[in-house]
Amino acid sequence: MANVLCIGAGYVGGPTMAVIAKYCPEHQITIVDINPERIAQWNSDDLPIYEPGLLDVVQEVRGRNLFFSTDIDKKIREADIIFVAINTPTKTYGEGAGRGTDLQYWEQTARAILANTQKKNVIVVEKSTLPVRASAAMDRILHSEQTNTQFEVISNPEFLAEGTAIKDLNDPDRVLIGGSDTESGKKACQTVADLYAHWVPREKILLTNVWSSELSKLFANAMLAQRISSINSITALCEKTGADITEVSHAIGMDQRIGSQFLQASIGFGGSCFRKDILHLAYLCEHYGFPEVAEYWDSVVRMNEYQTSRFFKTILTSQFNSLAGKKNAIFGFAFKPDTGDTRDTPALLLCQKLLGEHAAISITDPKALKNAKIDLADMEGDITFEPDPYKAAEGAHSLVLVTHWEEYRQLDYQRIFESMAKPAFVYDGRNHLDHQKLFEIGFNVFPLGKLPLSHLE
Ligand code: NAD
Ligand code: UGA
Repeated sequence: MANVLCIGAGYVGGPTMAVIAKYCPEHQITIVDINPERIAQWNSDDLPIYEPGLLDVVQEVRGRNLFFSTDIDKKIREADIIFVAINTPTKTYGEGAGRGTDLQYWEQTARAILANTQKKNVIVVEKSTLPVRASAAMDRILHSEQTNTQFEVISNPEFLAEGTAIKDLNDPDRVLIGGSDTESGKKACQTVADLYAHWVPREKILLTNVWSSELSKLFANAMLAQRISSINSITALCEKTGADITEVSHAIGMDQRIGSQFLQASIGFGGSCFRKDILHLAYLCEHYGFPEVAEYWDSVVRMNEYQTSRFFKTILTSQFNSLAGKKNAIFGFAFKPDTGDTRDTPALLLCQKLLGEHAAISITDPKALKNAKIDLADMEGDITFEPDPYKAAEGAHSLVLVTHWEEYRQLDYQRIFESMAKPAFVYDGRNHLDHQKLFEIGFNVFPLGKLPLSHLE
């Protein structure tokens, strides 16, 4: 039996540890966080994050072998294995501002571990996404003082996606564990591999060197984001030529060398990681003297911003270049469905641009209104938050679909049309709705990467 600790009770720490606790009942798992409110919520049934299936797992294991605490120092003293799943945001100041990783929280955690550890052997597991060679910094800090503890630092990045976290954790494509080639390094990797082997087939548990593991995580996100930017880059051409992005995506995706996933055109990718991780990757390339490589990856982020701006311009120009005083209903604020997370959501940039035109916006979302209110707290303008999508659309000139929540397909669009100002517009930033049907109801429909269906020409 091992005492497993996770520092950081966020989108990664909470679900990951809950699933480990479920499959490893003989181990005691504790999650700590500096934020007492978060810990209180994890100890209630009003969890701090929404994730399908998460509450069931937490209710099954909480109090059995999963515990949440704010007593970080005490829990470090008792731990044999320490996962570090704290946030690793982009630096906002000084050298590397806007690109590099802000490692201050990482270093604080390393120092807290060093100051409190009491066990003879402690494995520190890098769960957060970090620049390549970050574990060397952790290792150096942990060995900066004479202690009775033998530390081993290994990398075990997380690949779960929000909205499908429990599914991804139950059945991961792979588990990646990177460690040093020493006897104690190999033993530490094996110990962590044995945890996962409770439910993940051994052939899916990859053991690599530390730097491969760290780089693979950053690069996996960069590759996924690059696919989205690639498909999005072609939507503009489709709209001008009559090619249909859904058909194009399907046609190229049937080539097994390309594959069909992650080719869904959108208003732009969001989420706390893609942008951050590509910028970190580009910054690393620059740091190591490869500006051309940095420029290549930067362009993935630029294409993403371009896509959101292009979508906004369609809204502006199609409504006769004047949005002032007109209400626009924003359907969805979360960066993707099945989550309340709004970090780096394209909805924010879009709303800022609409407010810049003095448009009124009415935002609806099944799970993200609380975060949307926080995100827009400093913005001036006519902003309302409306849980009921029908009310959000009442009197609006346009309905702008940003997040493809399944329930938005099921709405009564005839009823919505009748309640809106005319001419009524739909902008579908995810190609999620039935465009022909909407057109027949009377809407002017602007999909992505397809010719618009308009009654006005
Ligand atoms: P998060 O912000 O949801 O959670 C991080 C938690 O760490 C917060 O609750 C914060 O209070 C806590 N924390 C920060 N400093 C601390 C300290 N010194 N001591 C104790 N607690 C501290 O972040 P997240 O989304 O869970 O991401 C965590 C890491 O995992 C990041 O590096 C991210 O890139 C990576 N990642 C995230 C996802 C995802 O889907 N969100 C997926 C894979 C990897
Ligand atoms: C992503 C990765 O998929 C995970 O493997 C990774 O662990 C995680 O980042 C991370 O490191 O944080 P996540 O951001 O939660 O997961 O969600 P995704 O499903 O990847 O979607 C990201 C964004 O891309 C969303 O805004 C989504 O709507 C958009 N997207 C996705 C598209 O626009 N088109 C697509 O075809 C797919």
